[in-house]
Amino acid sequence: MQIITEPRQMQAIAEKLRLNRQLIGVVMTMGALHEGHLSLIKLARQSAGTVMLTIFVNPSQFGLNEDLHQYPRPFEQDVALAKAAGVDYLFAPEAGSMYPVNHQITVECGALGQRLEGERRPGHFNGVATVVSKLFHITKPHIAIFGEKDAQQLAVIRKIVEDFNLDINIVAAPIVREENGLAVSSRNIYLSSQERSAAAVLYQGICHAEKSIAGQKKNLSEIAAEIEQMIFSTPGYRPDYVTFVDEERFEPAETAVAGKEYRLLLAAFAGTVRLIDNGKIMA
Ligand code: PAF
Repeated sequence: MQIITEPRQMQAIAEKLRLNRQLIGVVMTMGALHEGHLSLIKLARQSAGTVMLTIFVNPSQFGLNEDLHQYPRPFEQDVALAKAAGVDYLFAPEAGSMYPVNHQITVECGALGQRLEGERRPGHFNGVATVVSKLFHITKPHIAIFGEKDAQQLAVIRKIVEDFNLDINIVAAPIVREENGLAVSSRNIYLSSQERSAAAVLYQGICHAEKSIAGQKKNLSEIAAEIEQMIFSTPGYRPDYVTFVDEERFEPAETAVAGKEYRLLLAAFAGTVRLIDNGKIMA
């Protein structure tokens, strides 16, 4: 596995691979690799001849009061995991080479980036869209794998590809869960053991929605309110939002229509830690 830190060098390698007709698959991360990331690398390994992994804790997607400086950066451990997972190129730039002092142009996400997570984290998706666009240009992938765990991020990335006419195949990888249903995330290390086991309530909420909709319940707002109540009743937990969107447009959905796909999106606080989760549900 080769480790590259300079965008120009990574681009030159990607260009050469393309000239040699290699299919490039990329997995973009902020490091602190876990089972979820490894499942994305595995998917990339199955779909592409060359696998690139990017590790970059992107400052432009963190708000002023967020955890940019505390964000875990176990680089040596990540290198070992990436090697073992069969990554060919690890691109791990410094912030200064991604955002030199005169960096000015950014991507603006529009309404999709301002709802839900975007409302709670102003500017977050513009930061994600900017860095993902830059990383697309640097790694020149044919295929890019993103986790469904960050469902709104995935929707934003699909929209970048659509709106900017990018010739990249975006592959969604299913959420990897711990035994109690907690979605695997780098930020789970902030949870106490009590908060970790109580986190099962989020997955229970998703199962509740699945059951209710399978039982012909149509009122999605009512189901969301029931899940909020489940979270409120969990000691140490409080809901931030519980809502349904239609899977195609990622717009709020109130009533289930048979045959349509919806996504239930949940965000909740466990003490001071904010967790997000989601599930796709067919009506
Ligand atoms: O999902 C993440 O880890 C980040 O948001 C991403 C896509 C690597 C952009 O920094």
